[in-house]
Amino acid sequence: MKRLLTYIRDYRVRAVLAPLFKCLEACFDLFVPLVISSMIDRGIRSGNLGYVFRMGGLLLVLATIGLRCSFTAQFFAAKVAIHTGKGLRNDLFRHINSLGYREIDTLGTSTLITRMTSDINAVESGVNMALRLFMRSPFIVFGAMVMAFTISVRAGLIFAVTIVILFIVVFGIILTTAPMYRANQGQLDRIMKTTRENLLGVRVVRAFNRQASEIDEFRRENERLTQMQVRVGRISALLNPVTYVIINLAVVYLIYRGGGFVYEGTITQGGLVALVNYMSQILVELIKLANLIIQITRAMASMNRIDGIFALQPAVSDANVSARDAVTAPSAAAGAASAANVSAHSTVTAPRDAAGLSVSSHSVAAVAAQRSGDQRSCVPAVEFRQAAFAYTEGAEDALRDISFRAMLGQTIGVIGGTGAGKTTLINLIPRFYDVTAGEVLVSGQNVRDYALETLREKIGLVPQRSVLFRGTLRSNMQWGKPDATDDEIYAALKTAQAYDFVEQKGEGLELQVEQEGRNFSGGQKQRLAIARALVRRPEILILDDSASALDFATDAALRKAIKSDTGNMTVFLISQRVSTVRNSDQIIVLDDGQVAGIGTHAELYRSCPVYHEICLSQLSQAEAERSDEAVQNGSRTAEQSVSVAGSGSRVATQPTAAAGGGRSAVERSDDAEKTALAEAQNEGKEVQ
Ligand SMILES: Nc1ncnc2c1ncn2[C@@H]1O[C@H](COP(=O)(O)OP(=O)(O)OP(=O)(O)O)[C@@H](O)[C@H]1O
Ligand SMILES: [Mg+2]
Repeated sequence: MKRLLTYIRDYRVRAVLAPLFKCLEACFDLFVPLVISSMIDRGIRSGNLGYVFRMGGLLLVLATIGLRCSFTAQFFAAKVAIHTGKGLRNDLFRHINSLGYREIDTLGTSTLITRMTSDINAVESGVNMALRLFMRSPFIVFGAMVMAFTISVRAGLIFAVTIVILFIVVFGIILTTAPMYRANQGQLDRIMKTTRENLLGVRVVRAFNRQASEIDEFRRENERLTQMQVRVGRISALLNPVTYVIINLAVVYLIYRGGGFVYEGTITQGGLVALVNYMSQILVELIKLANLIIQITRAMASMNRIDGIFALQPAVSDANVSARDAVTAPSAAAGAASAANVSAHSTVTAPRDAAGLSVSSHSVAAVAAQRSGDQRSCVPAVEFRQAAFAYTEGAEDALRDISFRAMLGQTIGVIGGTGAGKTTLINLIPRFYDVTAGEVLVSGQNVRDYALETLREKIGLVPQRSVLFRGTLRSNMQWGKPDATDDEIYAALKTAQAYDFVEQKGEGLELQVEQEGRNFSGGQKQRLAIARALVRRPEILILDDSASALDFATDAALRKAIKSDTGNMTVFLISQRVSTVRNSDQIIVLDDGQVAGIGTHAELYRSCPVYHEICLSQLSQAEAERSDEAVQNGSRTAEQSVSVAGSGSRVATQPTAAAGGGRSAVERSDDAEKTALAEAQNEGKEVQ
């Protein structure tokens, strides 16, 4: 309620004028029975036609002024209501955008939509009606009673008793129906959820021929809402007949008693007609008041639901950014200290290569550091220290005891079965969620010490489900960098292997993107989403299963391009495909929320049973054991072997190149990428 007043306060003059004009109109209304009374007593009884016409003229004047007052009041009330709705909508939208993943997970999108639309509309019309009628109706009811007392005290008492009975009935009905209206809004949420899910998954619904069951479910929910509305409607519907009956009984009693008063001479005939008129006015106003109260109850229920969202404070916020200034320039000391360390997991799970390759994750980090030649490279670009995370309080941890370091310029592969926690892990880096234990550091600083904007500017994220927005290709590409030039955009499109199909469409950057990018194929969307992340040239690039819809040749070309075009970018490649991550500087193997191993492909294949198993489920033993040089050559063969493996047999392909000997992992993986690119180029085409 308090919040509502802040919007109304902006238009305070209009908010005061609207009910005042309504009261003015009510005053004119209250004069009408008096004029009619005197018309009867002084005009008709004495046959003074001139007086009757004069009074008739006066009635017309009263009606005209009343009408003008009413228009003015409604104009002001509408202005205030619309301004309130607009302000509320803007603020709610802003607030929803400040909420974190956790709050949105809890609330659900459908209820947010209902609150943004139907609830705000209810509040808007509640404000409108309240300003128009809240003063007018009681004013008329009590005004009419006062006028009745001025005509006759005994008649006034009849009014007083009638009004008390009416109030009891009206409020009784309202108190019964108010919670029912609240429940209706809740049910509307559920219908919204069903509709939304159905519309979002329209293709799946059709593909599975689920229309009938979807329609059934919708019908059930809708039926439930109808029943609830009918139930509350039945009670509300009592309002009018009951008030009519009470008022008409009162009128009958008034005429019966009034006749006696006229006979006694305590009131005139005109006075009696005026009393009956006042009683009718009370009837009309009480009905309006009852409807108004129902509307206000509904509006208040809606306002409470809206307030419920405003009350949610994002768990992830900028509250803890005192160290903000220190964030952009991590200290050299921190860098030096961290360079000397090897993460616990790397030491445990990266034993020496038996064949003498001796590539530990730490030594790979050192190579990367050398390569960049940058002092900052000593500070891990991303570091997890015994991080744990649970989606809901008290629930089982989705991630436990995660420790690793990703150095500047490194490519980190993250692999694991479905539901292993890969997406959860990378969501902790841009702080979509906060860890429940341990720490996540970016450039040597705890992510909690960053201003969210600064932190997220460092990161380019390509989510698992690519989302594009309605507009042009240019507007989509400029999401991360509003002033990105066409050249920058084209460079990003080229790296993301999206340039060719964009060129083919012939519209350049003016290419129209429909809602959710539905005029692009899954693979095209993924590549555009990658390009969008690349445009801002982030320090950390996260690709969450972003090549899942790409054919192997494009996937290989993409990885090659990312490696060569991203310079010092630290790249996280999340995938379920061994072929995607095997050339990474470090591979993190996740299993049921825990790190099962960290190291290079060769190390993990030897030492990590989970990784070993994943490899053998996707590659033949020969391919899995083959040196990295030949890896990409066999990538498509590997894919074939996966599909064949599904039917029970596995195609074992022969290694095509010898082991990498004494060269570093980076050199070897570069070679492998070259081979892959050559393959991809030979292939020349992409499957979309
Ligand atoms: N928003 C959420 N609320 C509650 N639990 C969640 C939520 N998102 C994921 N989970 C749970 O956390 C676990 C890890 O999920 P996550 O999405 O990280 O898996 P993943 O490794 O990315 O899987 P995939 O390869 O299928 O994308 C799963 O058990 C999942 O049920
Ligand atoms: Mg995932």
